[in-house]
Parts: sequence; structure tokens; C-alpha cells
Amino acid sequence: MATQTMGDKQSSTLDIHYQDKQVTLPLVRGSEDEVGVDIQKLRQATGLITLDPGYGNTGSCKSSITYIDGDQGILRYRGYDIAELAERSNFLEISWLLVFGELPTKKQLDEFSHEVTRHTLLHEDFKRFFDALPKDAHPMPVCAATVGALATYYQEPDSEKQIHSSIVRLLAKMPTIAACSYKHSIGQPFMYPRNSLGYSANFVHMMFATPCEEYHVDPLVERAIDLLLILHADHEQNCSTSTVRLVGSSQANLFACISAGISALWGPLHGGANQKVIEMLEQIAREEGNADRFIAKAKDKNDTTRLMGFGHRVYKNYDPRAMVLKRMCGEVIQKMGGSNKLLDIAMRLEEVALNDEYFISRKLYPNVDFYSGIIYKALGIPTNMFTVLFAMGRMPGWIAHWLEMRRDPDFRIGRPRQIYTGSTRRAYLPIEKR
Ligand code: ACO
Repeated sequence: MATQTMGDKQSSTLDIHYQDKQVTLPLVRGSEDEVGVDIQKLRQATGLITLDPGYGNTGSCKSSITYIDGDQGILRYRGYDIAELAERSNFLEISWLLVFGELPTKKQLDEFSHEVTRHTLLHEDFKRFFDALPKDAHPMPVCAATVGALATYYQEPDSEKQIHSSIVRLLAKMPTIAACSYKHSIGQPFMYPRNSLGYSANFVHMMFATPCEEYHVDPLVERAIDLLLILHADHEQNCSTSTVRLVGSSQANLFACISAGISALWGPLHGGANQKVIEMLEQIAREEGNADRFIAKAKDKNDTTRLMGFGHRVYKNYDPRAMVLKRMCGEVIQKMGGSNKLLDIAMRLEEVALNDEYFISRKLYPNVDFYSGIIYKALGIPTNMFTVLFAMGRMPGWIAHWLEMRRDPDFRIGRPRQIYTGSTRRAYLPIEKR
């Protein structure tokens, strides 16, 4: 048995005694005073490993990119509060901030915007690539495959210059890939990017314009998309970002790592939840808006139903991103004429849940996905594209973490251990004796 002496807040070590062995482990303090125990010597000294399914207690790295205090509902990129960034910044500036660590000067931002704007085109051969995929394919695996395929076009070795080009290409081409995945699914011609448009307006244009007529991007739509991208830009060691880091820890190519991140994001317990939220709200609307019945199902342990867009591994308080989006919902619906009914149901669900003992005791609050789907829908974004927009937004975060990992002096290939629970050694039985 291990006996542990947990130090007070000032301690800098933690002693662990196990059988006749003892190890003193250093405590590590973050800049916001959060404390972790560095267990790197644990196994060597005691033979023990740690077991933490879902990694709820495990810090995989030190990081200076994003700070979250889940109890207080705080989210900061490089020290800046998300609400302030959402109000005052734009997605390309946030991308620079996350990837390079500081807010850009005007000159830096102008040059960066210029670079990103001029790398939005896909190689023409990608038309045949898209053609090879079924029309009814979900756009997430289409995007994952296309981003992975970029590695076949840009094969130069990973020099600093090459890494910079890959970063620019990923940020620039992701909206093009996203829009192509949509156009492919509805059988419309791909729209080429327009260098006269800003990042988010260009995406909206590629999504909704056709070669047959002029299409003007509504400034409200452009701003709403930009805001959604900002709010999704990073969220420290979540499932997809950890995937990017883990794949990257083998020193795999950046495009391959991002492709893996997109795949991880697709799942309904992660980025795929925004699609599931709108499906849930529509189902409730079909059942005459009975939010209470749905809540009862979500609470029932014999029912697998979950209140989608609710709960978070880290936030045990209102997700600050959901707060910004809730405010934006009303504005977008009012101007775009979206469904008030879905917003009403969402607000009713939230009200019931936030006053219900089940949700209160488990600290389950709306997360970023709860209101984002309603906005996407009001903007005319098809439901199966919601998670693709999440992927577009998360791109700078994934890149920033990939870069930070590669430059970390403590860098090692990611390789967790396990507690083996299978059969102990046994002899092979010939097939006729089984
Ligand atoms: N509805 C009903 N009950 C829930 C919900 C929910 N949405 N979320 C958690 N719970 C319950 C669990 O059943 C569990 O109850 P128990 O203690 O009685 O067994 C308790 O709350 C803790 O839940 P866990 O699943 O252990 O929490 P975990 O941190 O592992 O999961 C997750 C977090 C996956 C986000 C979960 O809350 C969930 O499934 N939410 C719905 C899906 C969702 O919205 N995902 C998006 C997350 S945000 C993002 O990735 C961008």
C-alpha cells in the first residue's frame, strides 16, 4: 500500500511510501498557482504506475497557450479573457496570438493576412479527389481525408521555413476544404476563394455563392462566423488537441496530425455534440416542445439519452463561451429570421436543468455546443457542417499545441502504460483440442 503525505500549499514535494520504498516527488506550480505532482520518477523508484482512465487527473504537458479555470468559468488565450477577445479581436489575429504567443503588430497582422489570403487555393487535382468520395459522406471525414492528403502535396522536410508554410497553408486552405466538402455533397460547382474578402467572408462566399450570380456576404453573418471561430480557437488539452499532440509526438507531419485531430473532433462527445444539440432540439420541437420529458430521460440511468450541449470535463460552472453565444443567439435570430422555437426550447431546457437537483449536484452547465448550433442554423449552415466549423475554428489551437510540443525541452514520444488484466501465461492449444 502506498501512504501519501500531501503537503500544504507551500510544499514543493510529495512523499510516497510503498512497501519498503520511498520516493520524494517534486510539485510543479503553474502561473495561476495550480499545482501538480511530477511523477516521472515514480515507476523507477517504486515500480508503480498511475491509472487514470479518461486522464481526468493527468497533466500531459506544461503549456503556456490557454488557461481554463473550470470552477470559476474562466477561459483565457495567452492571458487574454475570451469575452474581451470575442468582442474586440478577429479570427486571424487570434490565430497569430495562439500560434506565435503575442498579439501581432499591425505590420505582422497585415503580412500574415496577406500570406493566408494567398494560400487559399487547393491544387486543381483535388477536384478528382473529392469526386472519388460519396456525395452523402459526412463532411468531417471528407475534411480529415483532404487535410491528410495535403501531406502528399507538400512533402518538403520539416525545416522552420517549411513549418511556417504548412501553418499558413492549413489556416488558409481549411475554409476552402470545408466549403468544397459542402458543395460536393449538394452537387454544386466549387467556388474559388476571393482575395478581396476577409477570412470569414471568404468562407461564407465559398459556401453559399454560385457562379451564376453575384453574392454579397451579409456583415452580420461574417461577424457571427468570425466570433464562432474565435470562441472555438483553443481549449487546452481536450480530446482532439491531445490527439494532435500524441500523433505529433512521433514527429509525424503537421498535416497528418491535424487530420487526426479532425477525426477526434468528429465524435458526438466532443465537437460532434453541436450537431447532436440541434437534432435534440428539433426532436423536442416535434414532440410539442416537451423539455421536461426530455430532461427526465436524460436523468434516467436506464436510458442512454444525455442532454447534449450540457456538461463538461473541465467546466463545473457556466462555460464562458456559451455565455457569449447565448447573447449572440437572440441578435442573429432577430436579424436572420431563424427559429425562435428552437431558441425557446433551448432556454427552457437550460432553465429546467439549472434548477434540477440532478444537474446541480453534478455541476452540469451549458457548454459551447449548446447555443452554437442555433446560431449556425439561423445563418443557414447545414447541420452536418456544424462540426466542420468547429474544426476550422480549432485549427490555430491545434497548430499552437503541435508547435509547443515540438519545442518543449521535455519532449518525448507519447506512450502511456497500462495495467494488464488479461490471462496469465498459458500454453498454446492446437485447434483440434479447443
Ligand atoms: N446529460 C445527463 N447526464 C450527464 C450529462 C448530460 N449531458 N453529462 C454528464 N452527465 C452525468 C453522468 O451521467 C454522470 O452521472 P453519474 O455520476 O450519476 O454517473 C455525471 O454527470 C458525470 O458525467 P461523466 O460522463 O463522468 O463526465 P465526463 O467529464 O466524463 O464527460 C462530457 C463530459 C462527455 C462532456 C459529458 O458531460 C457529456 O456527455 N455531455 C454531453 C455531450 C456534450 O455536450 N459534449 C460536448 C462537450 S464540449 C466539447 O467537447 C466541445
